[in-house]
Amino acid sequence: MTRVIPQAGIDLLGRQAEVVVNDGDEPLSAERLQEEARRSDAVLTLLTDGVDADLLRSGDRLKCICNVAVGFDNIDVPAATAAGIAVTNTPGVLTDTTADFAFALLMAIARRVVEGDRYARAGRYTGWGIQLLLGADITGATLGIVGMGRIGQGMAKRAAGFDMTILYSDEVRQPPERERELNARYVDLDELFAVSDFVSLHTPLTPETRHLVSWERLNTMKPTACIINTSRGPVINEPELARALREGRIAGAALDVFENEPAIYSDLLDLENVILTPHIASASVATRTRMATMAAENCLALLAGERPPNILNPEVLESPQFRRRFELTGASA
Ligand code: DGY
Repeated sequence: MTRVIPQAGIDLLGRQAEVVVNDGDEPLSAERLQEEARRSDAVLTLLTDGVDADLLRSGDRLKCICNVAVGFDNIDVPAATAAGIAVTNTPGVLTDTTADFAFALLMAIARRVVEGDRYARAGRYTGWGIQLLLGADITGATLGIVGMGRIGQGMAKRAAGFDMTILYSDEVRQPPERERELNARYVDLDELFAVSDFVSLHTPLTPETRHLVSWERLNTMKPTACIINTSRGPVINEPELARALREGRIAGAALDVFENEPAIYSDLLDLENVILTPHIASASVATRTRMATMAAENCLALLAGERPPNILNPEVLESPQFRRRFELTGASA
């Protein structure tokens, strides 16, 4: 385990396996991670652990990488498959918690909640003002959802309660019946960015989505529009977003994820029209506990020779490289 995770996950694994936990304050260095992976049957990783081809090629013992996250852009899955190592993630359990938070960010940026808090704390509130901290209405506005997976759909459900017009864009179009249920209209990205009052990002990070939100794209948005990102930081070009916010090309941004976490592009820190939160969209007690137990369940299933419920590369289970790892070193669960 590369970091301490909620105890329920540690306990679950500990009942059937010898568990080694990095209980230090820092993530493991690449060298340490590689060293530990070489002497483990499974590694439970967090999204802050980079799992690359070098690590995956080292040693014969490792059989699975179990990410305690739904996103898995920190893992080279094709390299894992080639090396005969299974990769799992934790989908579904964080959908509502993350969509709740994304909608909270939408409301907070629209109605300038965080700015208002800063204003009041600074002792600047000297009397009710008819022009004070005017924001944008949410009810009846248009929401553009980029990526209509589980969390994007969760966002659409919440938006329906505010009578929002819902547009979405994705590689895959939802079936007509689902579009009707969600009251969402499929549009291309150009239209989505051009007409939405709020754009919320729910896409995985892939080579295609990296810097999807660029200076050019931002300039097609309404000057009154806001962007919300709870997906992955590199989907937005941060310096270009900072410039767009500074120059008033768009009205605001609420970001839970950053291009080079934990670093935040310094210009963003000085802007009033941006909300910055430290990648906590899934951070409720219940959800983080469930993510930990789900990762443990994936791990135990794999080590017991069963198909893990959330395997990302199921084809690996049939590969000679994968079988060879069990033949050579067995498994301890
Ligand atoms: C994930 O699971 O990918 C989130 O970013 C953290 O919960």
